[in-house]
Amino acid sequence: MPRRVVLLLSGPNLNLLGTRQPEIYGTETLLDHVRAARRAATAHGWDLEHRHSNHEGDLVDAVHEGIGRVAAIVVNPGALTHYGWSLHDALAAFEGPIVELHLSEPREREQWRHLSVVEPLACARVAGEGAAGYPRAVELAVAAAASATDVAQAGALPPDAAGDPPHAP
Ligand code: DQA
Repeated sequence: MPRRVVLLLSGPNLNLLGTRQPEIYGTETLLDHVRAARRAATAHGWDLEHRHSNHEGDLVDAVHEGIGRVAAIVVNPGALTHYGWSLHDALAAFEGPIVELHLSEPREREQWRHLSVVEPLACARVAGEGAAGYPRAVELAVAAAASATDVAQAGALPPDAAGDPPHAP
């Protein structure tokens, strides 16, 4: 049973946030975003683990290590969004909800950023909201994971086993 943990994944070049194209990505550092994301998780009684890498294989490993252990993934894959098929395949093996996150709105930028290999796997997408997107993405991930658990528990119990008559309002 996965724990109440959100795994936040950060792809290539996000370690440069704060100084990297601040007119596009803002002035907050990656650490600032991780702190805001963690605050959002702890406000709901959840933990947040963060992993950054500039290397696709490290992110694939991080997803593998999360399988069966964490309840949800929030991922800002950086440029891997647009061509990272091995990250896609790793995420496809993850059983919990996945939220795709971007500081900017890639669909309003160069044509090559319009394709997202993560989007077909994501239950939600947060883009173009800048720093506010981090806590928002965590909240969406927690809500999706919590409702998936509710569904699983409700499905596992016949109505009378839960103490209610079968057709209780
Ligand atoms: C990004 C958007 C990507 O297109 C880009 O390659 C990034 C950051 C974002 O957060 O807006 O590195 O994912």
